[in-house]
Amino acid sequence: MVAASTSTAARRPLKLGMVGGGQGAFIGAVHRIAARIDGEFTLVAGAFSSDPERAKASAAELGIDPDRAYASFNEMASAEAAREDGIDAVAIVTPNHMHFGPAKAFLEAGIHVLCEKPLTARLDEAVELARLAEGSGRIFVLTHNYTGYPMVRQAREMVAAGELGSIRVVQAEYAQDWLTEAAESSGSKQAEWRVDPEKAGAGGALGDIGTHAFNLLSFVTGLTLDAVAADLTAFVPGRRLDDNDHVMLRFAGGAKGMLWASQVAPGHENGLTLRVYGERGGLEWHQENPNQLWFTRFGEPKQLMTRGGAGAGAAAARVTRTPGGHPEGYLEGFATIYREAGAAIRAAQDGEATPEGVLFPTAADGLLAMRFVDACVRSSKADSRWTPLIG
Ligand SMILES: NC(=O)c1ccc[n+]([C@@H]2O[C@H](COP(=O)([O-])OP(=O)(O)OC[C@H]3O[C@@H](n4cnc5c(N)ncnc54)[C@H](O)[C@@H]3O)[C@@H](O)[C@H]2O)c1
Repeated sequence: MVAASTSTAARRPLKLGMVGGGQGAFIGAVHRIAARIDGEFTLVAGAFSSDPERAKASAAELGIDPDRAYASFNEMASAEAAREDGIDAVAIVTPNHMHFGPAKAFLEAGIHVLCEKPLTARLDEAVELARLAEGSGRIFVLTHNYTGYPMVRQAREMVAAGELGSIRVVQAEYAQDWLTEAAESSGSKQAEWRVDPEKAGAGGALGDIGTHAFNLLSFVTGLTLDAVAADLTAFVPGRRLDDNDHVMLRFAGGAKGMLWASQVAPGHENGLTLRVYGERGGLEWHQENPNQLWFTRFGEPKQLMTRGGAGAGAAAARVTRTPGGHPEGYLEGFATIYREAGAAIRAAQDGEATPEGVLFPTAADGLLAMRFVDACVRSSKADSRWTPLIG
């Protein structure tokens, strides 16, 4: 087990570059905060925008040396690989169709990668990227950030320890409301590419947030998905990708599940919820109240477990920063992914394996989520027929 909270203090931060995340972008700014929370990374380079002028202006605002403010990710990959003080890792925070090209370029330049989800826009690219990452000898972290929450680690540890018994039922949902109307037609950059199949991929809400729910349920339960029966709908007139998804899940070993992803559910902001039921007990976790985890042993009163509180085990403790009752949230959970990435990258630089206990989603997890999306799209087109995952 790695005591990551104490192992980094005396170390120099790793050098981070960023692709995307320029002026007006959303998730790049979250990455920049998360990368610094534990002092693990410092941002030194970037190709921050598809628009070269905006890329330079964004770099200037962020205090990046003009020599390291690049107009394109290709230029950045070769220039940084050639520098003696080149970046250790790159964060790719572009829309989905712009993950594959940069990820490939930086892996081939020998640079470690943190990439946003979903892995790519297309399944064939995901297959190739997972293969490249596997053979690259570099660390590839997919930022399914919800796996960084202490009480999610707690849930995973409890399932693995058999506290619920054999898992029977999994309910996962991710509900939002921000695409209830056609935000893509009223100037929302974030909405525009998310409803464009060329840029988002074959899944709309499914690729954007359904993949988070799927990754979370897989991370906590360890179950292997065999087949899906999916009903994907675009409710907003003219929208070309799904904005509401109902998916039934069949897992190897007989467990059953349901997944609901929606961006047209008024009243929901980032309503990611996971419920897991086994022969002996059940768990329930809500992203909007992430410091709490409900646990029920069948036949006993419900227990409210808290981050940093009595009953929280070692897996939660190693990613907990503040005492119980001082809430940690989205940014700290995201920072945990950066902390884990830092531990893995430092070990790789020392020629060592990723330390025991360090956990982060990989390109292989991203490929699995892309296979999930692909199976759901095929099922939905076939009137929700049961459809096995390919590969
Ligand atoms: N993990 C999470 O919780 C989470 C949350 C939101 C978004 N995301 C993911 O992050 C990614 C970005 O989403 P967003 O909402 O921040 O999008 P956004 O539209 O706000 O930002 C995208 C940025 O990428 C830049 N860009 C596009 N093409 C580029 C190129 N060729 N070179 C350099 N920069 C380029 C744009 O100029 C912009 O700065 C998506 O893949 C999305 O799925 C993840």
